[in-house]
Amino acid sequence: MAHFIEVYAHRGFSGRFPENTMIAFEEARKMKVAGIELDVQLTKDGEVVVIHDERIDRTTNGIGYVHEFLYKQLCLFDAGSWFHSKYHTEAIPLLSEVFEWRIEKKSDITLNIELKNDQIDYPGLEEKVIRLIEEYDFSDRTIISSFNYDSLVKVRSIHPYVSIGLLFEGIDKEAVEKAKKIQAQGLHCESVYALSNEGKRAQAQGLDLRVYTVNKPEEFLQLKESGVKVIMTDVPHEIYPNLDCNR
Ligand code: G3P
Ligand code: MG
Repeated sequence: MAHFIEVYAHRGFSGRFPENTMIAFEEARKMKVAGIELDVQLTKDGEVVVIHDERIDRTTNGIGYVHEFLYKQLCLFDAGSWFHSKYHTEAIPLLSEVFEWRIEKKSDITLNIELKNDQIDYPGLEEKVIRLIEEYDFSDRTIISSFNYDSLVKVRSIHPYVSIGLLFEGIDKEAVEKAKKIQAQGLHCESVYALSNEGKRAQAQGLDLRVYTVNKPEEFLQLKESGVKVIMTDVPHEIYPNLDCNR
């Protein structure tokens, strides 16, 4: 039986463009991926910004923690040159900019918003993200995930049905039960889990497996065979030639 699998661009089309920037999202959209995974943190003045690390050092020309900067300061840093000088005009996007872009492009792309609050507690992050989702009426094409389980519990207490992905590393034998407790629709897991008996148990319980980060075509084919719903990849251009998937 043909099994359709969806491809999400991990941090945007991050294999070819600077991760978590507007160009990485736009180039992913042009590749016709089903979804985009992105990471969010909070600035000093409480703006939800799209960046993977708690510090800006690796992916911008600045130094320091995201939460030490006001948004008006943070947005001046160059978030593209670390990848290639031709991307020097890229900045750290606001989550709302990504939402605006999705509307402007009339795109139905799924946005997987990963709350990066497993290292730093960002008070109010859940409320702010959900408020934005509601403001833009995006609750049907948005997934919230986090390595911080308490944060996902909070998300569910704030919003009764927004899609939640329980995010974890390796094999977590309690993942199914934890997911059920907060009515999470999916498990955001690694291949090792997806291909294990625990992964099969999760699927049998009706949970979607969304697997990160799959950059090898052979790994992709194995996952497709085992019925996972989504793979997240940095390199959609290398995965696509191998599949007949939903795009
Ligand atoms: O959300 C899946 C994946 O992005 C989790 O790891 O470190 O790439 O955010 P990381
Ligand atoms: Mg992530």
